Amino acid sequence: MAILFNNQDGQTEQWVKAFEEYLPSMALHVYPHTAVEEIKYAVVWNHPKGDLKRYPNLKAILNLGAGTDYLDADPDLPKVPIVRLLDPVVGINMAQYVLYWVMHFHRGYEQYRHQQMQAQWSRFQVPQMSDFRVSVLGLGLIGEYIAKYLAQSGFTSQAWNRSTKDVDNVRCFSGPEQLTDMLASTDVLVNCLPVNQQTQGMINHTLLNTLPKGRFLINVSRGGVINDADLLNALNSGQIKGAALDTFACEPLEQTSPYWLHPNVHVTPHISGATYADTSARVVADNILRMEKGEQPFPIYSHFPY
Ligand code: GLV
Repeated sequence: MAILFNNQDGQTEQWVKAFEEYLPSMALHVYPHTAVEEIKYAVVWNHPKGDLKRYPNLKAILNLGAGTDYLDADPDLPKVPIVRLLDPVVGINMAQYVLYWVMHFHRGYEQYRHQQMQAQWSRFQVPQMSDFRVSVLGLGLIGEYIAKYLAQSGFTSQAWNRSTKDVDNVRCFSGPEQLTDMLASTDVLVNCLPVNQQTQGMINHTLLNTLPKGRFLINVSRGGVINDADLLNALNSGQIKGAALDTFACEPLEQTSPYWLHPNVHVTPHISGATYADTSARVVADNILRMEKGEQPFPIYSHFPY
């Protein structure tokens, strides 16, 4: 029995090396691999649609990311458990990405940058951190971690989830009505929602206009949650004063996208959750060993120090 490995983001050599260290008892076959009967676990990221049905003895898919949208889009996906990668190192990287931009928007660095272009020396007062409200959309494991990290950093941290959830030191909202309440008292909105039928295009004209004028948006989950035309209108009208966008409905972002050259948009190429083979391979290997013993894969996020 062997593992099929395919990480379309590269680093294959580092992953293979890490697996040799953490799972010496199991053979690792790098995709494409023809002895399909041997494959028991598929460790994959952006794997080609329709391929996973070829492995008759597949017991689980270990996704090398948190988002499973490319797997959900595979109509031939075998009905085996999907284990998401929830590496604490990736969670910390995402939280730091968000904190960086929250601080950027909070301290007015955006505006100082524009002032610099006009050689303008002029100071303004910003609210105290504890009065600056950062609202996370989506309290999955990553959203929850980010909301806690922002609270710990001294900001007012709020979060909305479809179903009710309580998180220490985070003001939690749920359901459609409370979403409006949270948005109306938000300075920076952070999107951590997965993309699915319910969330596709959810950050639209109505939602953006429920925010007070001149607020900020950070997107670290999926671009499909944003209605791009509505966000661009909101940016052009000043309803949204600045946006840090790490993910896009179509990646790589098209050359013609107005986001690239928009003066109030910061584009990064889907890097907020930087993943390292040595730490992530350990999480995946632990989960394979657990499943081999008939145990559930490990809920790794419960081991965050919060
Ligand atoms: C990255 O986008 C992930 O889903 O982990």
